[in-house]
Amino acid sequence: MSSSNPLRDPADRRLPRIAGPSGLVIFGVTGDLSRKKLMPAVYDLANRGLLPPGFSLVGFARREWAHEDFAQEVHDAVKEHARTPFREEVWQQLIQGMRFVQGTFDDDDAFERLRSTIEELDKAQGTGGNFAFYLSVPPKSFPVVIQQLKKHGLADQKGGSWRRAVIEKPFGHDLKSAEELNKVVHEVFAPEQVFRIDHYLGKETVQNILALRFANTMFEPIWNRSLVDHVQITMAEDIGIGGRAGYYDGIGAARDVIQNHLLQLLALTAMEEPSSFDADALAAEKTKVLGAVKLPKDLGRDTVRAQYAAGWQGGTKVRGYLEEDGIDASSKTDTYAAIKLEIDNRRWAGVPFYLRTGKRLGRRVTEIAVVFQRAPHSPFDSTATEELGSNAIVIRVQPDEGVTVRFGSKVPGTSMEIRDVSMDFAYGESFTESSPEAYERLILDVLLGDSNLFPRTEEVELSWKILDPIEEYWDNNGKPAQYPAGTWGPAEADEMLERHGRSWRRP
Ligand SMILES: NC(=O)c1ccc[n+]([C@@H]2O[C@H](COP(=O)([O-])OP(=O)(O)OC[C@H]3O[C@@H](n4cnc5c(N)ncnc54)[C@H](OP(=O)(O)O)[C@@H]3O)[C@@H](O)[C@H]2O)c1
Repeated sequence: MSSSNPLRDPADRRLPRIAGPSGLVIFGVTGDLSRKKLMPAVYDLANRGLLPPGFSLVGFARREWAHEDFAQEVHDAVKEHARTPFREEVWQQLIQGMRFVQGTFDDDDAFERLRSTIEELDKAQGTGGNFAFYLSVPPKSFPVVIQQLKKHGLADQKGGSWRRAVIEKPFGHDLKSAEELNKVVHEVFAPEQVFRIDHYLGKETVQNILALRFANTMFEPIWNRSLVDHVQITMAEDIGIGGRAGYYDGIGAARDVIQNHLLQLLALTAMEEPSSFDADALAAEKTKVLGAVKLPKDLGRDTVRAQYAAGWQGGTKVRGYLEEDGIDASSKTDTYAAIKLEIDNRRWAGVPFYLRTGKRLGRRVTEIAVVFQRAPHSPFDSTATEELGSNAIVIRVQPDEGVTVRFGSKVPGTSMEIRDVSMDFAYGESFTESSPEAYERLILDVLLGDSNLFPRTEEVELSWKILDPIEEYWDNNGKPAQYPAGTWGPAEADEMLERHGRSWRRP
């Protein structure tokens, strides 16, 4: 039986998803994220033919810019950072709908000018009153922008049009502040109008976790406590904090990365199969598994936080965190965090999930490694298998996107010697299509009203519930450990796994 909405018919899902009449307002358009990711993503979407002809882009910022100055900024950002080639005809079409509104977030006149700009675009560009407001602004400004949208009637959905709010991370800095922010947001916008960004969910490799698990038959039967020994989820960066001291200090690695990206990866890796790929069904399973996460009893033994000390990275001597510009020498902010979690359900009881993230580590890499138990019995001499590690399935999120399966194989020769080998799937080799940037996918989804890839209120709050006791323990107990820049983290993190006869992967 065919569905009344053709877009919801599974047979139609491979058709290009093209946004209907609409526009995007970016607050904080002069910022780093907007320049490097958002403006280029809008152009790439236009270039791929996924935006409507009259699509409009409104920048809101403090600078005294004319519309032409703003267009020039977008042009420069696109030339420098867009993924797809620059095409003059695409640019000429996009520029028709570009407007700039100058003002600060507390400036009522500026929000009135924004309102009349939107009305003008509805007439000139046929945007139909459909606008998304992207808050690419410092987190402390989220509430004021939301309240201004309400005050000036910009959140009202009149005559069948839609209004949506896109909120960047971090969403709060603990449970209490996240709840407060949710309250402010939901006084103005209904849940289906709110899109919280966790750009990891926009990555192809992250969506592929679901494809790997639920479109195949061979992985799910082994994806549980009967065969899995433990799971390691790593997001390692080789860079330091750069010029972002003001943002980073006081936040740290666990709040910046574990609360959002790594707990979302954990949820996708550990959740049960949703009944459909529908936003509600997905959110229900993610929420269920996040609600079943159990903290270690001894936070002193099973969590580690640390700061990078001076060291060598890529042949260059680099400073320690406490010597970085703008960082107080007494700062206790973590630039590395590792935690052990368990999941209290039948599938995962007793299987540790080790999450770690850090700056100035050996290499930039994000991966999920599902590590399997050893064979319960070996017919081979112990010397034959002494170089054999554990079987593992590794989802390589970035870079070098793909999946690796690691298992033992006989070394050619006259004796029986078994060593680890890898079977690799690499996106770059298997597909001719290149992957869109996460922000392209996410902006398109916002314009289509498709909320699958956006964490909901409950997920954000559950994630803070997991992290808050750890942060509180760290606040009240000692100082961060140290690790030399360019290494794989502090000795304390190695010891945390060694106590259980395990070790961290060196990707
Ligand atoms: N940068 C990243 O890679 C990244 C990654 C993930 C998440 N995020 C999140 O994305 C958001 C933006 O980050 P960002 O790095 O782009 O920040 P940013 O470079 O500091 O930019 C902040 C923007 O907000 C504007 N702004 C600040 N206060 C304002 C006010 N009172 N009135 C009007 N405009 C004001 C700034 O305008 P002026 O130019 O006039 O100062 C600027 O355009 C933040 O929530 C951040 O946590 C960023």
